[in-house]
Amino acid sequence: MDLSPDSAFTAQANGTADLYDAAAADHEAFWAEQARSRISWATDFERTLDWDDAPFAKWFVGGSLNVAHNCVDRHVEAGNGDRVAIHFEGEGGDTRTITYADLQKEVSKAANALESLGVETGDRVAVYMPMIPETVFTMLACARIGAPHSVIFGGFSAEALHTRIADAEAKVVVTTDGQWRRGKPAPLKAAVDAAIHHGDDESPVEKVLVVKRTDTDVEWDDSRDVWWHDLVPGQPDTHEAQPMDSEHPLFILYTSGTTGKPKGIFHTTGGYLTQAAYTNAVVHDVHPETDVYWCTADVGWVTGHSYIVYGPLANGATQVLYEGTPDTPHQGRWWEIVEKYKVSILYTAPTAIRTFMKWGADIPAKFDMSSIRVLGSVGEPINPEAWLWYRKHVGGDKAPIVDTWWQTETGAIMISPLPGVTTLEPGSAQKPIPGISAEILDDDGNPFTEPEKVGYLVLTKPWPSMLRGIWGDPERYKETYWSRFGPKYYFAGDGAKYDEKGNIWLLGRVDDVMNVSGHRLSTAEIESALVSHPSVAEAAVVGAADETTGQAVCAFVILRGDAVDNGEETVQELRNHVAKEIGPIAKPRQVMIVPELPKTRSGKIMRRLLKDVAENREVGDVTTLADSSVMSLIKEGMSSGS
Ligand code: WTA
Repeated sequence: MDLSPDSAFTAQANGTADLYDAAAADHEAFWAEQARSRISWATDFERTLDWDDAPFAKWFVGGSLNVAHNCVDRHVEAGNGDRVAIHFEGEGGDTRTITYADLQKEVSKAANALESLGVETGDRVAVYMPMIPETVFTMLACARIGAPHSVIFGGFSAEALHTRIADAEAKVVVTTDGQWRRGKPAPLKAAVDAAIHHGDDESPVEKVLVVKRTDTDVEWDDSRDVWWHDLVPGQPDTHEAQPMDSEHPLFILYTSGTTGKPKGIFHTTGGYLTQAAYTNAVVHDVHPETDVYWCTADVGWVTGHSYIVYGPLANGATQVLYEGTPDTPHQGRWWEIVEKYKVSILYTAPTAIRTFMKWGADIPAKFDMSSIRVLGSVGEPINPEAWLWYRKHVGGDKAPIVDTWWQTETGAIMISPLPGVTTLEPGSAQKPIPGISAEILDDDGNPFTEPEKVGYLVLTKPWPSMLRGIWGDPERYKETYWSRFGPKYYFAGDGAKYDEKGNIWLLGRVDDVMNVSGHRLSTAEIESALVSHPSVAEAAVVGAADETTGQAVCAFVILRGDAVDNGEETVQELRNHVAKEIGPIAKPRQVMIVPELPKTRSGKIMRRLLKDVAENREVGDVTTLADSSVMSLIKEGMSSGS
């Protein structure tokens, strides 16, 4: 199979081979050029990078800009107000077309509304909403005011919402009455109410702004709750966007780490927007005049932030925003949307592709998908079989696939082929994009390039959209990312290797973070949810390989002495308990009730052995176990069906 770039594609591509040379010749000059050519600055910057206080970076120092102005107003000012910004497709089939001129009015009204609720520059706003246009309006309205948003995925529970609202000290929450899921409404505001009335803690939340989406009954507190339809439509549809300092915080996004406490990753203004816009242009190859772009991620994750809201809108692109699931009302829904809007660029996750493979190639074959010209993948390694299926059955055997490696922390794409430039390699993210530098280190921190040897991925130079820290915890930032191999290397937490051709292959997390359907979950967070159940004495969680979801959550649980083991009923109760504490995405696929857990002499749980059990393998080396009989006890217990 010839996977070298097609010459007609290359001729029109935004990415070029020259970009690699330019970035290699002068890293800072390269990024300064990206910032000035892609972004409109109210005040030009004086210094490209200030790394004096490493690892705390400042990019485009002295510059000022407004992100919402860049994503909305300037396109209208340039005469593109009539261009469609968003083709919204509701789960139930309701649609809405929003041009850039409409978007400018909607964002202005939302910004005025938030200000009327007391939101000022620097205040945090929590956003707990489904995939509807108001969510995008709210995020951009926050950016316009300079009030960092903290979007919390709608699949998280009240408990998780409470922790995140409290950590960010959010003054206002924007939510909906409910959200559509497979044709049925599920309540959403109820979780906000529960998160606010949490134990004896005094909530920082002063106001809750509620969009009516599903007509679900809600409790109402007149002093705190405000309907969107009562407040927003009557607001003036113009709003003066004030320039913000290049390093003004734009958003906080919580992600799982190796401890139970989620980390508030925060991003700032100038650098983040520059890299989001640049990557969306050169990696997705977005041509705003002609393309219809569709990123299927949820805005509750970083992919939705950078590649639904900020990157494509900064570039003035036309995109699809879809509210629902891929199988509602039928398994061809996505392809129907591709056909309807003539989607030309599709960006999705391997877990979705593997699900479609299971459903069968005859489903996409029923639709006209000839508009597709670029495909993207993100969130976890894409296995070559899924890559080839995607190319053949979605990409018409011709669309280049960009396998993009990056993280919440990196803010934007870091490792990926450039379509039209790179000869593709199925299953590999290939190499750092122009402007990014990565290496693979061995256990002792030495870089190597030998093929097939497994090591740790590190980033070796600061980049514009890098996280600026962990909200409220600068020490944890240094320790988590900049200490494993010394202060010169950003430790990504991913295993990696080179192949014979020098391509980088990402091999999954090397820490206690799992990747389930592209969602990051921490073993510690799920363990602490399990032990918060009155029947549980101890719990150990591992991510076991799963054909569809990449990894699946498997929990091993020791019950308390006084707890009754009701078999399947107890298992279900514990699974539901995790869903309640964290959210349905964290619900273990399996809960195994065991008499003991394998531990080292120093008391550390040996997850490696549990993983062997969960993946039905022969149990590996047990010589460091404190009690060598434990594994046979576990295996016996499991085969006897308890
Ligand atoms: C994994 C999602 C292999 C990786 C944007 C990383 C990938 C974590 C890829 C970040 C890829 C993401 N190939 N692995 N193309 N993309 N990952 O923060 O383990 O939700 O560290 O950001 O996902 O997940 P996060």
